[in-house]
Amino acid sequence: MAETIYKASTTAPVNIAVVKYWGKRDPKLNLPTNSSLSVTLSQADLRTLTTATCSASYQGQEDSLILNGEPSDIKGARTQACLRELRAKRAALEAENPSLPKLSTLPLRIVSENNFPTAAGLASSAAGFAALVRAIADLYELPSSPTELSLIARQGSGSACRSLFGGYVAWRAGERDDGLDSKAVEVAPASHWPSMRALILVVSAAKKGVSSTSGMQQTVATSDLFKGRVANVVPAHMAAMEAAIKDRDFAKFAEVTMKDSNSFHACCADTYPPIYYMNDVSRAAVRAVQAINEAAGKTVAAYTFDAGPNAVIYYLEEDSAPVVGTFYNLLQSTDGWKDEAKSYSSTATQLDETTS
Ligand code: DP6
Repeated sequence: MAETIYKASTTAPVNIAVVKYWGKRDPKLNLPTNSSLSVTLSQADLRTLTTATCSASYQGQEDSLILNGEPSDIKGARTQACLRELRAKRAALEAENPSLPKLSTLPLRIVSENNFPTAAGLASSAAGFAALVRAIADLYELPSSPTELSLIARQGSGSACRSLFGGYVAWRAGERDDGLDSKAVEVAPASHWPSMRALILVVSAAKKGVSSTSGMQQTVATSDLFKGRVANVVPAHMAAMEAAIKDRDFAKFAEVTMKDSNSFHACCADTYPPIYYMNDVSRAAVRAVQAINEAAGKTVAAYTFDAGPNAVIYYLEEDSAPVVGTFYNLLQSTDGWKDEAKSYSSTATQLDETTS
């Protein structure tokens, strides 16, 4: 008789931080130096789809991972930490309920793909690890909440813990050495402020020079400016950002988003040797946002940059015309953008509305 193949599929969205995670206080458990806050983008635009299967017919084989059609390393410490925790939770369920099939001991096959080109240079580790953890948790029928799964996804990639929720999401840094309080929570559902939009301008499709993981460790080790960011800047930004979201105050949301991006990139420049993620085209996007806001006579657009030159512009639906229109004109006329630039427009999204 053919052996049963147990299977679960899930998708996870990309999130873009408005208060940045940058710095680890414990690299092994992936515990951050500071809390962070992000907006989850629509899965129609940017998401990872992951299918996990396990079967007795895979016995004798190793766990495997296919990423965008290519065999990928599953032996890395971070992926292994996620698999270990998920298997331990399944094993505990099986111990409680001996009639359950013993899935925790079977080899896993994981197949994962993004609906956006990897070459676009967009961070995919957040959606990737969130989808991996959720797919296996579904396969194992774990009764875990998104916050509980965020504790596992965090160990894959810090920003991944925020992709387990839709809408507006905080990753609370926590204080414990074991990391059990370092987890994601929903600040507000997408429906609280549904007109939020994100325009992603792909400035460069090249792979980033200094990875987030290594860049943030260099910053922690060498930047004096970073000490002030952790002690004062981020706590103030977290409080102001949560209030801005609660009050649907776009001007405040935009100010904190831009200041936090500036603060993060200033700390990168203060790293020794310095790290520069933004380039001339990124800086042209900053100036375009300033010009758009001046022309509007109020703040209608906010820029933010992660560990690369691509710009993400937050704006409200009702201001689409001046914001998106101006950027498309810029795309036509700026050399750096002419050939390779692509843009993705996205909405803030609620996870349960779009996840199967
Ligand atoms: C600049 O989550 O990629 O995007 O935990 O080492 O995998 P690791 O880092 P990662 O860092 C993301 C950094 C950031 C800011 C953010 O998303 O908050």
